Amino acid sequence: MINMKRIVFLLTTVLCVIWVKSNAQLIAPEKVLVVYLSRTNNTKAVAEMIQKNVGGTLVALELEKPYPQNYQETVAQVSSENETGYLPPLKTKIEAIEKYDVVFVGFPTWGMKLPPPVKTFFKQYDLSGKTIIPFNTNGGYGIGSSFQTVKELCLKSKVLEGFTVRGGSERDGQLLMIKTDKAKQTEADVKKWLLKLKII
Ligand SMILES: Cc1cc2nc3c(=O)[nH]c(=O)nc-3n(C[C@H](O)[C@H](O)[C@H](O)COP(=O)(O)O)c2cc1C
Repeated sequence: MINMKRIVFLLTTVLCVIWVKSNAQLIAPEKVLVVYLSRTNNTKAVAEMIQKNVGGTLVALELEKPYPQNYQETVAQVSSENETGYLPPLKTKIEAIEKYDVVFVGFPTWGMKLPPPVKTFFKQYDLSGKTIIPFNTNGGYGIGSSFQTVKELCLKSKVLEGFTVRGGSERDGQLLMIKTDKAKQTEADVKKWLLKLKII
């Protein structure tokens, strides 16, 4: 009889430990950085959804010299920067990047490529040994070479499967499109992706 009680006690303890572990946050929020580039706030909307689920520090990448307001002028400038390999200096400074283990990096597709300011970020900060998780919004033509470039710029990091969703199309006057019903659907898709990556 005493043995039976002991067994029940032990089993309950083991089950409690398993339950506590399965409910624990998988990554400590203070180890997570969510950094993003966004011009018309679609990528910002996704960045905020990630932060809502995972926690962490949210940082917008801003430039020392912002791109022109005019869309076509921006397209032309980006194209020339891509040709010459120019890395536009960032105004944003990230404090103590070494304290983060997981870095989400978000950006729109620009000219079917990774935007130059995001290349600046990868060149400027030492992300070796960290887990990098890209995310993207685009005008309907997809990620282009952007995720591949992230991998190439982060050879000393572990790069996980990225997330992409259609955002706006500034060319056609569509600015922030990840709102209302589209935001609800995107939130559900972001959650599914984070679960698949076992981040939450
Ligand atoms: C300079 C520039 C170039 C772009 N190039 C592309 C492109 O090649 N393919 C695409 O699908 N969308 C392209 N877009 C559209 C953006 O990727 C899309 O609107 C995205 O959702 C914008 O994100 P944001 O609101 O965070 O700035 C481009 C937008 C800009 C401003």
